[in-house]
Amino acid sequence: MRCVVWVVASCVAAVPARADDWGMGEANRKIPQTNIFTTVSTPGDEVNTLAFFVLAITAVIFVIVAGLLVYSVVRFRGRPGDDGREPPQVYGSNPVELAWTTVPILIVFVLILTTARTIYTVQAAPRPPGAIGVHVVGHQWWWEFQYPDLGIVSANELHVPVSDPQHPTPTFLDLESADVAHSFWVPRLAGKTDLIPNKKNSMWIDPHEPGTYLGQCAEYCGTEHALMLLRVVVQPRDDWERWVAAQQQPAAQEAAVTRGRAVFESTACINCHTVRGTVASGRFGPDLTHLMSRATLGAGVALNTPDHLKIWLRNPAVMKPGARMPAMNLAENDLDALVAYMATLR
Ligand code: CUA
Repeated sequence: MRCVVWVVASCVAAVPARADDWGMGEANRKIPQTNIFTTVSTPGDEVNTLAFFVLAITAVIFVIVAGLLVYSVVRFRGRPGDDGREPPQVYGSNPVELAWTTVPILIVFVLILTTARTIYTVQAAPRPPGAIGVHVVGHQWWWEFQYPDLGIVSANELHVPVSDPQHPTPTFLDLESADVAHSFWVPRLAGKTDLIPNKKNSMWIDPHEPGTYLGQCAEYCGTEHALMLLRVVVQPRDDWERWVAAQQQPAAQEAAVTRGRAVFESTACINCHTVRGTVASGRFGPDLTHLMSRATLGAGVALNTPDHLKIWLRNPAVMKPGARMPAMNLAENDLDALVAYMATLR
């Protein structure tokens, strides 16, 4: 017993606690809990219904089997005064064997049919003319969202319009990976879809309620898999269109932050990041044209504030050990100028 306690205690001690959640704990508490049973999108609802149906059938089977077992244990248990001989041994009963072969086959068949119907409803759904198309690229350890029809590239926070069931405006995602396998999972909206290198998968969502929905990479993809967070921001149509219009603008060019912009354009930042309207056109890291329009930094690791941005720019590994972005070793005044510039990228 003491040994077990020791093993558990040393495992707990070996997991380093995050010193700081960079404001994310409080921010996420304002968002309704992620819950696979409170879906607000057709693919999620379909999976949910099927899951309850399967649970109900298996629960009935469990009750019958466990009930018979308990009955037999109680009814036929050894009693004082038993003569110690075995009860009559019965071999072969065609009706019983037929029953326990046929009934499970029928149950499995029903499960196959309902599962096939759910898969068909989700995967064969036609793409209506008003659908929004998003190309999702999984990277170690962040999400790239491209809207090819709208000329937008964003990261980690997917904005989509709410879909009115009367006039559906679903969002169709096609998903690919830039490196290893990842999995896109926003439990309240749909099931998981893997992002596989050199293969294009697809899925769709039609969220019925505005709000923010939290998700997470659901396929182990390396050091920071656990911090490859994602959020889907579902907006009323007008708000979403305003967001699109703002994202389509080139980056802000404020005269007051010319020095910070010069720091940005003269360091290796531009090899990995794009800021439209500047020389920066790298594709390895997230597009920063409208960096400050996003609520979080580093794929959900920190609330996106200038203070956190400064910590991140000084050394990303402080917030996200293993992050692909290196520490740039900038002088303190360059760092301040850079943060001031980045803070204007709204
Ligand atoms: Cu990406 Cu796990």
